[in-house]
Amino acid sequence: MGKEKVILAYSGGLDTSVCIRYLQVLHDLDVVTVTVDCGQNDDFREIEKQAVSIGSIKHINIDAKEEFAIDFVVPSIKANGLYQNKYPLGTALARPLIASKAVEVAHKEDAPYIAHGCTGKGNDQVRFDLSIRAKDPRLKIIAPIRDMNLTRDLEMKFAKEQNIAVTEEAKQYSIDQNIWGRSIEGGNLENAFCEPPINAFRFVASDAGSIGHIDIEFQNGIPVAVDGNRMNINDLIEHLTSVVGSFGVGIIDHIEDRVIGIKSREVYEAPAALAIIESHKDLEKMVLTNHELRFKALVEECWSWLTYSGLWYDPLRRDLDRFIDETQKRVNGKVKLRMHNGSLRVTGRESKYSLYKSDVSTYSNASSFDQAMAKGFVELWGLQTIMANVIANKAV
Ligand code: ARG
Repeated sequence: MGKEKVILAYSGGLDTSVCIRYLQVLHDLDVVTVTVDCGQNDDFREIEKQAVSIGSIKHINIDAKEEFAIDFVVPSIKANGLYQNKYPLGTALARPLIASKAVEVAHKEDAPYIAHGCTGKGNDQVRFDLSIRAKDPRLKIIAPIRDMNLTRDLEMKFAKEQNIAVTEEAKQYSIDQNIWGRSIEGGNLENAFCEPPINAFRFVASDAGSIGHIDIEFQNGIPVAVDGNRMNINDLIEHLTSVVGSFGVGIIDHIEDRVIGIKSREVYEAPAALAIIESHKDLEKMVLTNHELRFKALVEECWSWLTYSGLWYDPLRRDLDRFIDETQKRVNGKVKLRMHNGSLRVTGRESKYSLYKSDVSTYSNASSFDQAMAKGFVELWGLQTIMANVIANKAV
C-alpha cells in the first residue's frame, strides 16, 4: 500500500519549504504541494522546481488572481476594509482563498491531510485552520512549524543541513505578497523604534519629489477606470500599485493586535489599496446619507475584524456584504487624487448621485436655503441639553 497523501499550501518561502521535508520525514506522508497565485508575481516555474527538488511528489499551480480580485478584494474595497484603521488586509484576504483551493485539491487527490507553514504566533494559522475546517471538517490539519515550536533561526539551520535553498530576502524578512499588498515582518523590523530600511520595499519609491495627479472612476463602489482608461480590476490595481508607489505613497507602519493577543510591529506596502480606499471613502461621503455613513462605519469595523480574525466563512460576513452591496448602488462617480513625496490627498470628487448641492451649502447670493428654518431646529435639537443644564444649575 502507498503512503497517505498530505496537501501542503506551498509558497516557496522558508516555512513551507522546510515543511515539505518535515512532512516526509516525521509524518511519513507523500507531499503534494499547491501554490495559489494571488498576484504575488513570483516565478512559479522556479517554485515548482524547488518543491519537487525538496521532495514534493506532485506540484499544482493554481492561477487565482482574478478570483482573488473579484471575490475577495472587491468586497474589501466596498467595505473600506482596514484593520485597526490601517491595514488593508492583503494577507488576511488571501488566506481563505488559498485554504479553499488546498481543500479542493485534497478532495481530488483523495488526501486525508492538509498542511500549512504557519507558526503558532500569528494570524495566518487561525485563518488557515478555520477556513479549511469551514470547507471540510474531516480533513486533518498538520502545521509542522507550530507543532514543533520552531523558530525562524531553527528553520534556517534545518534548511542548511537539508540543502534547502533560502533566498537572501527570506533570510532577512518574512514576506507575504499579493495584488493587494506586501506584508513585511521580522528581522530588524522587530525593533519597533527602528525605521524600516529602504531595501525592505519593492513598490514604494523612497525619493519621490515630483507631484502626480490621477483620477479614479467608480461604478457601484468598484474602481473601473484610471484617468479615463477603463481596466479590469486586476490591471487597475497593478497599474495603481506602480503609479501611486512611484510617488512614495503606500507604506503602512503600525503596532497591530494579532488575534491571539500578541502585539506586533507590522510594515506593509499597499499603494493601490490606500489610493482606492481613500477615494472610495471620499465618494461615499458625497453620495450616502449621514445615517448610512454612520451605520456603515460600524459594519466596516465588524467586517474588517471578521476578515482579519480568520472568520471569512462566517455567515455574518456574507450578511454584511448584502447590506454593503445595497449601499454601493449609488457609489458612482470620479475622485481626483494628488500625490507628492509620500502623501496622498483627495482634491476633487463628482457624482450624479451627489447629495452635496452647492446652492444649498453656499454662503453667496446663489443660496436657495431659507436660514429662518434653522432657528426652530436649533431650539429643538438642544432642548434636553439646555434643560438638563438649567436644572443642574438650579440644584447647586
Ligand atoms: N499581520 C499581517 C496579517 O496578519 C501580516 C502577516 C504576514 N504574514 C507573513 N507571512 N509575513 O495579516
